[in-house]
Amino acid sequence: MKLMNKAALITGAGAGIGRAISMLFAKEGAKIGVIDSIPEAGLQTVQLIENINGIAKFIQADVSNTRDVEKAVNSIAAEYGSLDILVNNAGVCFVGPIAELTEEQWDVTIDVNLKGTFLCSKYAAPHLKKNGVGVIINMSSGLGLYGGACWSAYCASKGGIIALTKALAVEFAPDNIRVNCILPGAVATDMLLRNTTMQAKIAGLSGPEEINELMKKIIPLRRIATPEDMAFGALYLASDESSYVTGIELSIDGGYLAT
Ligand SMILES: NC(=O)c1ccc[n+]([C@@H]2O[C@H](COP(=O)([O-])OP(=O)(O)OC[C@H]3O[C@@H](n4cnc5c(N)ncnc54)[C@H](O)[C@@H]3O)[C@@H](O)[C@H]2O)c1
Repeated sequence: MKLMNKAALITGAGAGIGRAISMLFAKEGAKIGVIDSIPEAGLQTVQLIENINGIAKFIQADVSNTRDVEKAVNSIAAEYGSLDILVNNAGVCFVGPIAELTEEQWDVTIDVNLKGTFLCSKYAAPHLKKNGVGVIINMSSGLGLYGGACWSAYCASKGGIIALTKALAVEFAPDNIRVNCILPGAVATDMLLRNTTMQAKIAGLSGPEEINELMKKIIPLRRIATPEDMAFGALYLASDESSYVTGIELSIDGGYLAT
């Protein structure tokens, strides 16, 4: 097992990519701190992990709230006696032209996606430093590198995560904490369904299936990713197999960035 006895805190672990990472890390021997703002979602992930004889504890927290984050990080570290891995995965997205994007939607996007990554990293760092080895994995997006019409706040937040990843990789290298980010392409989750439903509406298309078909035509590997595709990338970045890798953007996008 690649993560035996490691303690991993995973945000947004109640659904989609965060749940898939939690399940895979648990299968690989890690004890999981399941963080989500929605209790039913987080508790369901804990149940799924326990069903495979894994170890998990749920803490409800909004990653954009300082007190929530400090409490969640400290209680997971206390529960497991250490913290070895942090996965900043929680994210939100509002799709729409900038003229219709409200200030509140902009603030929520930046607060959850970017400030949440900052807060969790800030409060996890002292724990990660204790063992002389630690890992932070940030969930960015291909949309942090290239533009997308109607994705302004999301692109800004995800581009910020790439810059923050590089800054922290350099800052934490002397402590042997590696900081990397993943750039997923389109991944079949509730978020993708919400986004493609909105995109279809804006473009006057029949529905999310039509957007999916259009996406498949432009992705070289001709399919939408599964959350497990992202989890295997996260496992590589969390394990000792990547012990000389820090500050990178790992694209898992079926080749889209190569086009
Ligand atoms: N699905 C995709 O196509 C795709 C592509 C690129 C990047 N991403 C990124 O991957 C990450 C996971 O995406 P997903 O598709 O699994 O999303 P999802 O919406 O399916 O799941 C996100 C989870 O995060 C939780 N969450 C949301 N706001 C939170 C907050 N403030 N505090 C704590 N938890 C919160 C939700 O309750 C939910 O359980 C996000 O950062 C997203 O931006 C997704």
